[in-house]
Amino acid sequence: MAEDRQAHWLNPQTALNYARAAVQVGLWASEKILINQTFPDRTAKILELGCGGGRVGLGLAKDGYTNLTITDFSPVMVDITQGVFAEAGVAQSATIEVANACRLAYPDKSWDGVVFAFNGLMCLRCHADRLEALAEIYRILKPGGKFLFTANDREKGEHVDLWKNVSALPGCQKGDRWHETDSTPVFMHSSTESETRQELLNAGFKIIQSPLRSEVALENSNVKNFAGETRFYIAERP
Ligand SMILES: C[S@@+](CC[C@H](N)C(=O)[O-])C[C@H]1O[C@@H](n2cnc3c(N)ncnc32)[C@H](O)[C@@H]1O
Repeated sequence: MAEDRQAHWLNPQTALNYARAAVQVGLWASEKILINQTFPDRTAKILELGCGGGRVGLGLAKDGYTNLTITDFSPVMVDITQGVFAEAGVAQSATIEVANACRLAYPDKSWDGVVFAFNGLMCLRCHADRLEALAEIYRILKPGGKFLFTANDREKGEHVDLWKNVSALPGCQKGDRWHETDSTPVFMHSSTESETRQELLNAGFKIIQSPLRSEVALENSNVKNFAGETRFYIAERP
């Protein structure tokens, strides 16, 4: 098994799969509801982390958000997102650039919102990376700024039975796992609601809500095939 926990995101086939999702799956119904609720002002200065092939960023641009910076730590993902935006004729509607969630080169208190969609925070290398990313996101949000993300929930997702019976991998946190994909294996963490809520509180956030996706909206089969059940977290820097 490959030990580089981020190699999957540098793989061109992975990037192509995520670009396809940007075009064929688009913004989930639940994402649209919660993003519009959390960021009612279409001029809000929003940073997207872990953009993949631009699925959410493209959806936000099409939905009228005008102050978007769309980023990923993987230059392969950033290149393909630029291609997706150009192909959709909206290349000028966002800044698209490389940014590592654990070491953000943005000033303190400079964003109205941060979005880390479809379990991106859970795709970091380890627990320590996740805590660094939470501290960075807190640092760059303005007071009152909001952070919206999802995390796969090992107590509620479709793999509940699997999680009941597995013990932690050596040197890993419970919930850390390699998963097979269409390209290369992906290393991900699946959390519990109480674990992620506690990490947010420890980082200084106030939690607004943490619903399961299925509690927010019924998704179409394209969305369900692309992504299983997951839990949204919406938090605020007080
Ligand atoms: C599951 S994909 C989600 C992609 C996209 N947000 C979507 O919803 O289709 C996770 C994304 O997080 C990115 N990622 C992984 N580690 C990261 C890091 N340290 N900083 C920023 N992005 C990262 C990956 O490159 C990948 O694009």
